[in-house]
Amino acid sequence: MLDLRSFLEVCKKEGELLELRDVDWDVELGTLTELLAEKGGPALLFDKFKDYPEGFRVATDMYTTVKRFALAIDMPPDTNGLEIIKKWRAVDFEPVKPVEVATGPVMENVDEGEDVNLLKFPVPRFHERDGGRYMGTGVAIIIRDPDEGWVNVGVQRVMLHDERTLGLYISPGKHNAIIREKYWSKGESCPVVMDFGPTPLLFLSAASHVAWGISEMEWAGYLAKEPLEVIAGKVTGLPVPANSEIAIEGEYLPPDVESRKEGPLGEWTGYYGGGERSEPVVHVKAVYHRDNPILAGTPPIKPPNYAFAVQVRTTPLLWNELEKAGIRGIRGVWEHGAGGGRMLTIISLKQEYGGHAMRAALTAAGSHAAGYMSKLVIVVDEDIDPTNTNEVLWAVVSRANFEDSVSIIKGCWGTRLDPALPPEKREKGDLTHSVMIINACRPFYWKDRFPPVNRASEELRKKVIEKWVNEIPLLRG
Ligand SMILES: Cc1cc2nc3c(=O)[nH]c(=O)nc-3n(C[C@H](O)[C@H](O)[C@H](O)COP(=O)(O)O)c2cc1C
Repeated sequence: MLDLRSFLEVCKKEGELLELRDVDWDVELGTLTELLAEKGGPALLFDKFKDYPEGFRVATDMYTTVKRFALAIDMPPDTNGLEIIKKWRAVDFEPVKPVEVATGPVMENVDEGEDVNLLKFPVPRFHERDGGRYMGTGVAIIIRDPDEGWVNVGVQRVMLHDERTLGLYISPGKHNAIIREKYWSKGESCPVVMDFGPTPLLFLSAASHVAWGISEMEWAGYLAKEPLEVIAGKVTGLPVPANSEIAIEGEYLPPDVESRKEGPLGEWTGYYGGGERSEPVVHVKAVYHRDNPILAGTPPIKPPNYAFAVQVRTTPLLWNELEKAGIRGIRGVWEHGAGGGRMLTIISLKQEYGGHAMRAALTAAGSHAAGYMSKLVIVVDEDIDPTNTNEVLWAVVSRANFEDSVSIIKGCWGTRLDPALPPEKREKGDLTHSVMIINACRPFYWKDRFPPVNRASEELRKKVIEKWVNEIPLLRG
């Protein structure tokens, strides 16, 4: 399975990597990451930070374009978004279990107990208003369900508190949040492994809404068609990815035992919605890293610049969930970039019965893949391309009759990251929000009387193109 440094080598060969030196880890690195992501620029690899040894590196902007996402998952560089979505749907998924190996590159350097010092890594503070340095944004958090035995992997932000302490924020409802409670409710700490330089497929799988009970390690193995290599952690017994750049083992303490201020961090919504709060911490017992380690950074950037990787990971799994729920006739599903790849869902389908479109919308709003922070779900007919914003908006203003076509569903799966969460609800601890559904399909019961679209038929267009294409090259393609 392609590890992080091999992936960056592939990027370099493809002209998709910019190597930079002498950049300040304090906001300069984050600002360059933002500026170049906005321009669709290359992946970035930073080295030679002031007061740090040469070779202690940070990589960012790795998965921000379709081309690099394809390279990261070992697909040809010219693969288009839809082909990636099809692969990510993993319709014939069979778990490919990780294999345990005695050791691996991540064990080239081992610091245990008193020798643990996380400050040895050039951890960035990404944005000006961030409350601290974030060691984990491109991270994979590995936790075992104590009742069911399977290992869940998620991406959750990790703040650097001091040499041996990290803050880990997990939103309610996420699998790692459900699992940690199983330890905490018994007054126990939750053993955890954090992979701060994960292989691209493990990171992208961990960031996807893979169903409960399926380990993202097995999902990554399935996508790579080869198992992930892991080493049994000495402290926790959890699997430590052997080809990781930097990994730690630690104890995630119940919040009443220890909590510290966490945040703010510039978030994927494009705001600082989460603010600063008390959050539980991880005591780090061991640090493993390769020679010349690379810390992976995927700091959130204001939408839509950051969204592609989220869109690709959310869209296919939502599509699967809709079909599993029995929603037929789906032509396409799209998580719009303006919603950070999550808040704005568009579904295109061929209506077969009254209520078909609403069934799809309600399923999406309640799904695991896209339900979290879902704000707006738009359903359009099958002639509308859900990835084309202008076509979608045309359908909304022309086919919806708003007094009948809009529904607002209250009490949905939200988070304190929601910038629009009213202060009173936030103070009460009520993090739910409402989802607006726009049924922008032709009304089912009189769709046959709906005015025809003012567009030449496919047959006529084909005929005219064939006749004129040599004289008007613009007609080609
Ligand atoms: C860069 C990045 C940062 C993320 N940060 C967080 C976070 O701080 N807390 C969180 O709960 N989810 C965060 N997520 C989203 C989760 O990784 C995602 O919802 C994942 O599917 C959760 O795993 P689960 O399916 O095992 O619940 C982040 C995702 C990415 C890509």
